[in-house]
Amino acid sequence: MAERRLLNQDCLTTLFLICFTLIVSSPATQAYDRPPPRSDVFTPHYGSRSDPQQVHISLAGKDHVRVSWVTKSTDVPSEVEYGTSPGAYNTSATGRVTSYRYMLVYKSGQIHHVKIGPLNPKTTYYYRCGGQGPEFSFVTPPSTYPIEFAVADLGQTEWTRSTLAHIGKQDYDVLLLPGDLSYADMFQPRWDSFGRLVEPYASKRPWMVTEGNHEVESVVPLLHVDTFKAYNARWPMPFEESGSTSNLYYSFDVVGAHIIMLGSYTKFDAGSEQYTWLKADLAKVDRSATPWLIVLIHAPWYNTNQAHRGEGEKMRIAMEKLLYEARVDIVFAGHVHAYERFTRVHDNKADPCGPIHITIGDGGNREGLAKRYLETGERSISAFREASFGHGRLRLTNETHAQWSWHRNDDAFSNIADEVSIENLGVSQTCTSEV
Ligand SMILES: [Fe+2]
Repeated sequence: MAERRLLNQDCLTTLFLICFTLIVSSPATQAYDRPPPRSDVFTPHYGSRSDPQQVHISLAGKDHVRVSWVTKSTDVPSEVEYGTSPGAYNTSATGRVTSYRYMLVYKSGQIHHVKIGPLNPKTTYYYRCGGQGPEFSFVTPPSTYPIEFAVADLGQTEWTRSTLAHIGKQDYDVLLLPGDLSYADMFQPRWDSFGRLVEPYASKRPWMVTEGNHEVESVVPLLHVDTFKAYNARWPMPFEESGSTSNLYYSFDVVGAHIIMLGSYTKFDAGSEQYTWLKADLAKVDRSATPWLIVLIHAPWYNTNQAHRGEGEKMRIAMEKLLYEARVDIVFAGHVHAYERFTRVHDNKADPCGPIHITIGDGGNREGLAKRYLETGERSISAFREASFGHGRLRLTNETHAQWSWHRNDDAFSNIADEVSIENLGVSQTCTSEV
């Protein structure tokens, strides 16, 4: 009898220890209660027809910035006045204006683009658009390390608001957006609303974007007629400055980084204009001037999520070797509504000389999170994955080391849920000697 009681006590103790071990060893990612999607938001314009709205800035070649904005009125000049003190605009520049029609039912406002500069690094500039309206300000990127990039694909929901608030709470130098901006999906007023939603952030720091599937907006779906009309009109990027003939793919340099924005929804096969341009662009990279080589695409080449599986595969097969041989450090993708970081990889295998692939498609889309994952196959090269909303931060500390962190939106807080140090491949003895 005493022996049976002892046995029962042992069983209870063992059960308690198993439960205790399970509780304390469970990663936070499993314990975290994944949030449901939140509703779309619409951001109105409160100013006059002449007042600037949807103001955003982007890098436009060495020491230059492009200021873009929209007015309802056609009488506003495409002029930006700017200076380094509030209200004192000692310099001005003029640019161009464009507009577009979409399916006869929508006519955009006047979309102004003005390139300003040369500008000094890490300097606050105060500016006014079209000679009237409120004053804006932005800070130019630094000329030396460290530099910090915020990375997110966004959408336009209450979760996007939350992500933007978290991005804005902690300083950064440049935002990188791997496609899927407004989720307008042909309903053009949503582009205007998106411009107004992001203006408080995109008017203060350069935003560099590439296109996603939600930017295609083919007037005749499946036939891809007149694609990227709104995207190209509203978000011109410095493609001409980088020798590209298309706004859908381009590159730029900023503080020790050469950043290549590729187009997942334009031709990429060997012989295509994008492929030829990429090959030439990579050949020009000087790793002593820009040790960091970073690429953005939209549809991920590596993905263990059940959502959008294989959608980046044709592009991976066409272009992966070029990136591998150039020793690209990091490839960021969007599209999949979840976060995932892979180990260094090439040709579906772990490879110390391949790029780290990171999917950051969780900024706040309206379609909800992609929660189902593969447990076999590429699972072995996936280092961290989680279906939660959030954004990423890449801090280039110096020419050899960087810090990547993923900030999960946890309601009012932004918690670091994944963090890793990254060593530059361009200075790796092992990897550079093999090229
Ligand atoms: Fe997408």
